Amino acid sequence: MAFSGTGKVWMNGKIVDWADATIHLASHVIHYGSGVFEGARCYKTRNGSAFFRLDDHMRRLVDSARIYRMEYRLDQAGLTQAVVDTVKANGLPACYIRPLIYRGYETLSVNPLPCPVECTIMVWEWGAYLGAEALEKGVDVRVSSWNRSAPNTFPAMAKSTANYANSGLIKMEAVLEGYSEGIALDTGGHLSEGSGQNLFVVRDEVLYTPPSAASVLPGITRNSIITLAHDLGFAVREMELPREMLYIADELFFVGTAVEVTPIRSVDKIQVGDGRRGPVTTAIQKAFFDYVKGNVPDRHGWLTPVDIPATKPEAAAASR
Ligand SMILES: Cc1ncc(COP(=O)(O)O)c(C=O)c1O
Repeated sequence: MAFSGTGKVWMNGKIVDWADATIHLASHVIHYGSGVFEGARCYKTRNGSAFFRLDDHMRRLVDSARIYRMEYRLDQAGLTQAVVDTVKANGLPACYIRPLIYRGYETLSVNPLPCPVECTIMVWEWGAYLGAEALEKGVDVRVSSWNRSAPNTFPAMAKSTANYANSGLIKMEAVLEGYSEGIALDTGGHLSEGSGQNLFVVRDEVLYTPPSAASVLPGITRNSIITLAHDLGFAVREMELPREMLYIADELFFVGTAVEVTPIRSVDKIQVGDGRRGPVTTAIQKAFFDYVKGNVPDRHGWLTPVDIPATKPEAAAASR
């Protein structure tokens, strides 16, 4: 999806035009991946716009920054308010939200500490990450030849820009060979996750998902799906899973802010179940979309309503 190139970006406290949201080439983050970020969504619900688990995303952002010794001048509450301001300034009733804390311009020593800690927030309209059809029909994936990072190398619990060099390798390998995604193993050979999404395996109506020690990002959607699965009466087991579980699963699906709940219909050209979105995936997907669209009461307190002003004249003009 290409950007429209319009809209407003929050940069260190100022709202600027999309075209002016630039940083210097000598910024540390460009050279050494010294950034941490989030991906959250604001949904258009039947009761107006609402953020989905924004506090949890902002907490993870602050946690990621802490792991990398980056202290920004705003705390979690201040950063959350900045997200609200940015979404309102863009007038988008539904959008994807990308806050980024990074090391800026000072020196290009590998040591990031002398470089200033800066923050930007972008928002844009982003529909189904793997395509609308994928949500219904599922995607074809392969097991990646790349592993997720070993423990005590790149911290998997931090959503760091550096981790996405590995994600890029997984994704490129998959798409160049005609697959939509790759599933990576951890360095012990156990199932880990996709390039930008967590994984669930279904067998005999029990849900399985790799634990945080399997080098996965502790996904907020993953956590939501575990809760919704329990609500539906399914057992969920977080445990180390061998690769071959993929080939004998009744159903498989990815979850994440971008992919939401996307079924997987084949792995390494082996059909999953009967090659269609299965009944458990269908029930979970429905529970998820009913929740984020406000079709059911917000019983877990995951939605934060936000008043989005009517679209700004300049944004409306640009979309014409
Ligand atoms: C590597 C990786 N795993 C899992 C996820 C899913 O996390 P979440 O549900 O918090 O978006 C993401 C998405 O950001 C990701 O990049």
